[in-house]
Amino acid sequence: MKDDRTTIRGLAHQDQAHDSAIKHVTGRADYTDDLTEPTGTIHAYLGLSGCAHGRITGSDFSDVLAQPGVLGVLTAADLPGVNDVSPNGKNDDPIFAEGVVQFWGQPVFAVVAETRDQARRAAHRARITYDPLPHALDPIAARDAGMGYVTDPLTLRRGDAPAALARAPHRIEGRFAIGGQDHFYLEGQIALAIPGEDDDVALHVSTQHPSEVQHMVAHVLNVPSHSVVVNVRRMGGGFGGKETQMNLFACVAAVAAKRWNRAVKIRPDRDDDMMATGKRHDFVVDYAVGFDDEGRIQAVEGDWYARCGFSADLSGPVTDRALFHADNAYFYPDVRISSHPLKTNTVSNTAFRGFGGPQGVIVAERMIEEIAYALGLDPLEVRKRNLYQNGQLTPYYQEVTDQILPRIFDELEASSDYHARRQAVLDWNAKGGVIRKGISLVPVKFGISFTATWFNQAGALIHIYSDGSIHLNHGGTEMGQGLNTKVAQVVAEAFQCDIARIKITKTTTEKVPNTSATAASSGTDLNGMAALDAADQIKARLVGFVAERWQVAPGDVAFLPGQIRAGDHLIPFTEVIRAAYMARIHLSAAGFYKTPKIHWDRATGKGRPFYYYAYGAAVSEVLVDTLTGEYVIDRTDVLHDVGRSLNPALDRGQVEGAFVQGAGWLTIEELWWSQQGQLKTHAPSTYKVPLASDRPRIFNVALADWSEASERTIKRSKAVGEPPFMLGISVFEAINMAVASVAGYREPARLDAPATPERVLMAVERLRG
Ligand code: MTE
Ligand code: MOS
Repeated sequence: MKDDRTTIRGLAHQDQAHDSAIKHVTGRADYTDDLTEPTGTIHAYLGLSGCAHGRITGSDFSDVLAQPGVLGVLTAADLPGVNDVSPNGKNDDPIFAEGVVQFWGQPVFAVVAETRDQARRAAHRARITYDPLPHALDPIAARDAGMGYVTDPLTLRRGDAPAALARAPHRIEGRFAIGGQDHFYLEGQIALAIPGEDDDVALHVSTQHPSEVQHMVAHVLNVPSHSVVVNVRRMGGGFGGKETQMNLFACVAAVAAKRWNRAVKIRPDRDDDMMATGKRHDFVVDYAVGFDDEGRIQAVEGDWYARCGFSADLSGPVTDRALFHADNAYFYPDVRISSHPLKTNTVSNTAFRGFGGPQGVIVAERMIEEIAYALGLDPLEVRKRNLYQNGQLTPYYQEVTDQILPRIFDELEASSDYHARRQAVLDWNAKGGVIRKGISLVPVKFGISFTATWFNQAGALIHIYSDGSIHLNHGGTEMGQGLNTKVAQVVAEAFQCDIARIKITKTTTEKVPNTSATAASSGTDLNGMAALDAADQIKARLVGFVAERWQVAPGDVAFLPGQIRAGDHLIPFTEVIRAAYMARIHLSAAGFYKTPKIHWDRATGKGRPFYYYAYGAAVSEVLVDTLTGEYVIDRTDVLHDVGRSLNPALDRGQVEGAFVQGAGWLTIEELWWSQQGQLKTHAPSTYKVPLASDRPRIFNVALADWSEASERTIKRSKAVGEPPFMLGISVFEAINMAVASVAGYREPARLDAPATPERVLMAVERLRG
């Protein structure tokens, strides 16, 4: 751990491997299921409903209880506290259905047995009977059936959109259905609860939101939060699917642990995980756009109908964010857009990378296409004519001040050779063959901050031990995105020490309290700043100590790589720490950060919900087989803005992963429910996620290395987790172009999402007439 002053590794802005990269690929990283189980660990398994909506008329567990190894069954009546894990105080998210079931796959009970296999098999022996009630599955059916909203809808309004639409020289209306998405984290939901003395219980949970799990478990056990400790070393992916969805599993494990006074583990099979946990919201959107002869948008009206499922969960902020991004990168002079968070008899949908934003952005891009085809223009030209200029207002009255898309467009057009390749695509399609091509350049502008303003806070804890090694802890969780590595780089930079000196430790509610979910891409922004605050406090104490000990002015003390300079003296870091300890200097600090400047008033629809915007663009070229509807992504070029990157290697990885996940959402990932409301695509056999073979054959990913956040973000970097997800829209638009070519681009293909090969084929047939 000796800092070689010439080769300090892992400072800010350097490429630095993920701290667990080697462990991930060699199977040595500990996930929750890898932890050594306490002696006597028992297992819980959920019993799910087999009815989309119905009154429970009877439940017979006698056969369950007779199975080998079974210790008992838990139902709503067995919960010491509330039967609710609603993350928003609406009390509409029961752990176990009581009286009625509201979707197919809803947990009704849990079996606890000596082994997981025993619990899982026994769960299928329950006999639950239902008196079926009418059900509505999709948003339009729910609207027509008067199912109502799970949470308050939102309208953003500026100017007089209906009047401006009526005045506009051109006007187009359409409907666009946008599918949902399963998170398909590689590690499924899992919790291990270990009972302690008195009311205590400690949990190891795969969650993005340890503090919320802590509070939920406390409410369900009816004990104070101080009795519950939640630990997270890492998740095998979360993608938003572990922001709230883990609460139920953790609570079941905790209740069983206290009831039997044994450690309890719960881990559903993939099929049950997919049926019982929420997903990305699918939407049906009715839009109307008015524009002039040059393709400049004059007015937009839109209604976003969302399938929220049976409860609110995060549907409020998710459907709000769909509206926040319904403009993507374009200025709408007059606008009225509304969300309709509809209650449906399906699993309660939740956060998923982009948090509703992608379902807003893609509608903006659909309208751009409509305009381009109507006027016979290259959609890129229409995009450019409508890009925000600094000083213009979004539909929520935030002024755009950091617009960099014109430069991103220029550079990406050049590096991808966009214009020549588009001409080549047009020439190719003009030959009229079976294989058609499409190419599309799509931008993204994504607002960074939680729209629930109070979530924009974070804490961190740093200890320097007397041997000079550093213990770093913060409230964020690691799900593969590299948060821990980036925060450690910030601390390494602060102390000018090698990253190997810093121990990255598990997230735990015992060290940093009242944390926010690691979500909204803000993990590094928030926790990096909190860690920097803690480091700065210790540094200030060290500077004071060194100045006094070596008799120099504080201004003459500087942190250099591996050592501290005091006037003419150069003292190794470890020596300073040792001396500071002997002099009784406090070598531990708790840091805190809250994002400045942001505010949002939902009642008026006005404010500055976002601290800043992250930008990016992608060009994708596809080949479509018009006889089968199949396609491949031939080439994608990305230029993405992460401000001054804290770690270009990790950021490029986030961009690549997000792009592929976004392309998967819009192409092959399709959720399908039977008429009875059963999700039929609940395993990889029927639900297709992108494989390595589905990536673009040529994939050029670059960061806009000249970009710097205009606000005082952590080291002028920008958040990266979600924004590049929307770059996958370029693939969808390119497929649309290839399909439209079969009818000479007289009209857009208007594919619904996902553009599965079946949908592509049907669109080809329809356009051919
Ligand atoms: N990257 C990996 N490898 N695994 C994940 O689960 N989640 C994404 C994104 N990137 C995710 C990921 C989502 S939904 C968010 S909000 C951010 O990471 C959260 O982490 P951050 O705030 O530290 O970027
Ligand atoms: Mo990400 S959807 O904000 O967890």
